[in-house]
Amino acid sequence: MIRLLFIDDEVETQKVIKTILPDDYIVYSCTTGKRGLQHLEREEIDLVLLDLGLPDMDGMVVLETILASENPPPIIVLSCCHCIPTVVRSMKLGAFDYLVKPFTREQLLQALQNAFLQHTLHRKSFSCDALENPLLSGIIGNSGCIQTMKSLLHRYARHWAPVLITGESGTGKDLAADILHRLSDRRHNPFLALNCAAIPDTLIESELFGSEKGAFTDAVTKPGKLECADGGTLFLDEIGDMGLAVQAKLLRCLEDQAFTRVGGVRETRVDVRIVAATNKCLEHLIEKGLFRSDLYYRLRVLTLHIQPLRERKEDIPLLTNHLVQQFPDKAYTLSFEAMEKLINHPWPGNVRELKGVLERAMVHTTTSKIESRHILF
Ligand SMILES: Nc1ncnc2c1ncn2[C@@H]1O[C@H](COP(=O)(O)OP(=O)(O)O)[C@@H](O)[C@H]1O
Ligand SMILES: [Mg+2]
Repeated sequence: MIRLLFIDDEVETQKVIKTILPDDYIVYSCTTGKRGLQHLEREEIDLVLLDLGLPDMDGMVVLETILASENPPPIIVLSCCHCIPTVVRSMKLGAFDYLVKPFTREQLLQALQNAFLQHTLHRKSFSCDALENPLLSGIIGNSGCIQTMKSLLHRYARHWAPVLITGESGTGKDLAADILHRLSDRRHNPFLALNCAAIPDTLIESELFGSEKGAFTDAVTKPGKLECADGGTLFLDEIGDMGLAVQAKLLRCLEDQAFTRVGGVRETRVDVRIVAATNKCLEHLIEKGLFRSDLYYRLRVLTLHIQPLRERKEDIPLLTNHLVQQFPDKAYTLSFEAMEKLINHPWPGNVRELKGVLERAMVHTTTSKIESRHILF
């Protein structure tokens, strides 16, 4: 049973919601912000649907109050006009999703299901299975961030919903996406990647959706990555660099699970799990009008944030020892001072930079011992 608290002063909408939701939802309705908040104090709730236009209180204040409580349920806000500043504000505060009235039954159900899935996955205590899985042992580190990452990857692998991986460059986003695929039931099907920053916008479209001969100059008939990844996973790297036109087409594809090739007429249906990654703040891009908020919500059904290395310095010795053992010629060791120097560095390039620094150190040492003077940033 999913306990949904619906805070909205429109009695008509209250009735509609009750009739369209499946039987596994118990809907508690409140027509004012104050009553809604009182209800939350009294009873455990799994999801909140909150209309921002309330008679007694500012919807944003209600949102903030709920989010400030201990273990708040995910909140989906309803707004009457498609007002980007309001949506962005509520998103920044921590709303899970938003719907613009009037919305369809499918849109509502999708948003509720996504929120519930995210909520339950995060709430369950971390399973030990995650830490014992050999695939996950390829992720080195002992910090809380790495443990959470392993546990979430283990859980997310069993679902089909899109995953959004965020983190600075070099923190391990590619690594996480690859392991997620290999942990999932899709592992025997392809894992394909498309780097949206590396290809011009016009090409991304045909790379992603495929093209038909004659669609544009030099166009040949060929399937896109979505078709080639059927049954598997498509990793959309640097999604923040994807142009708005392709974003619109990708959104339609995620909603309908179907698309047409560039210059084509026939609809193609595929079963592909989308994993997207970015080192940019998508919320800032939304504010600047460079990223679609509706696509953002579609992609971030399940999220994974990887902290920069400087915020989890306890992982540096483990990563270092792991990395120096990967070098083929000798088993290298580090002096205490060398390790100290590594721990004190801020690592703007994260693990990728650490790898480079260690490779350089091995070139500079003539023995198998890496000293502080061999560490050059
Ligand atoms: N926790 C980790 N354990 C082991 N290797 C890691 C870890 N994090 C990153 N790496 C390695 O660091 C390099 C950069 O990681 P990558 O996944 O490409 O980063 P990003 O995609 O975030 O830029 C890769 O060689 C990756 O295998
Ligand atoms: Mg990457």
